[in-house]
Amino acid sequence: MAGGALADPAGCDAGEEVVKFSHVTNSDKHPKGIAAALFAERVNAEMEGKMCVEVYPNSTLYDDDALLEAMLQGDVQMGAPSLSKFETFTKVFQIFDLPFMFKNIEAVDEFQSSEDGQAMKSSMERRGLSGLQFWHNGMKQFSANKPLLSPEDAKGLKFRVQPSDVLIAQVEALGATAQPMAFAEVYGALQTGVVDGQENSWANIYGQKFYEVQDGTTETNHGVLDYLVVASTDWLDGLDGDVRDQMLTILDEVTTERNAAVNDVDQEARQAILDAGGEIRELDDAQRQAWVDAMKPVWEKFADGVGQENIDAAQAINE
Ligand code: LMR
Repeated sequence: MAGGALADPAGCDAGEEVVKFSHVTNSDKHPKGIAAALFAERVNAEMEGKMCVEVYPNSTLYDDDALLEAMLQGDVQMGAPSLSKFETFTKVFQIFDLPFMFKNIEAVDEFQSSEDGQAMKSSMERRGLSGLQFWHNGMKQFSANKPLLSPEDAKGLKFRVQPSDVLIAQVEALGATAQPMAFAEVYGALQTGVVDGQENSWANIYGQKFYEVQDGTTETNHGVLDYLVVASTDWLDGLDGDVRDQMLTILDEVTTERNAAVNDVDQEARQAILDAGGEIRELDDAQRQAWVDAMKPVWEKFADGVGQENIDAAQAINE
């Protein structure tokens, strides 16, 4: 691609392997948006004439449901859906949706870096999808159209969740109902009262302006929002070995650089919500413990599928 800077969806040259990278978030002030843009910038500068990455953010090409099917059809080459979006392909990522499983992103990183964590990236090969890297976003918070201080406050409300049985069970454990919904539809659904609340990271709450249409956000840090950079195995196998290796090396370096910066982006987004007039409620230890007590029992329901050994490994890291 001539030029440089951010990928221009129309700027690839003839003869270059065009890689459409589709995702659903905003591009700036967002861990995934920044990482995808940096990946494209580096490939397009360093692999000029060989490969050209076009980034399509903000669900402009596909939402996450459609993305994986389109990838298997060869209509899009790369993406980075959240780990909650793979449930129809594999259950191994359910561990990341279990509430209060990881105390922070460092613990998530350590778990993913272990042999078992790395093996999870290959869990969908037989379904035609290759996991390439984990990208971090941040811990999740709950917001609603009324103050949420104790879990009882959530009773009877309807929360948008990502399409994950674990997340549905987690919300039901609060005595609330769960409504799976595509990311791009959430702002409108909160605004019109189709749902009362939602859970997401600071970067997503800021990027999608959910704080504008919610009473406030409660700093529960109850779960994890993390991504898997994914490509179709057929497409990857069909690349020239040296092209594939150079692209994967760049992806590896971008991953290391951006994952190391993730807490800064997370905290900037939190601060940006406050600066924009959004309300953030903090919990004291006793209040937070009440959320743990209400939601942690869902572990039992999923322990067999997730594997008790994985749960034990994750818990050992928290200590
Ligand atoms: C969501 O649907 O809430 C998230 O997975 C969006 C994203 O990609 O961060």
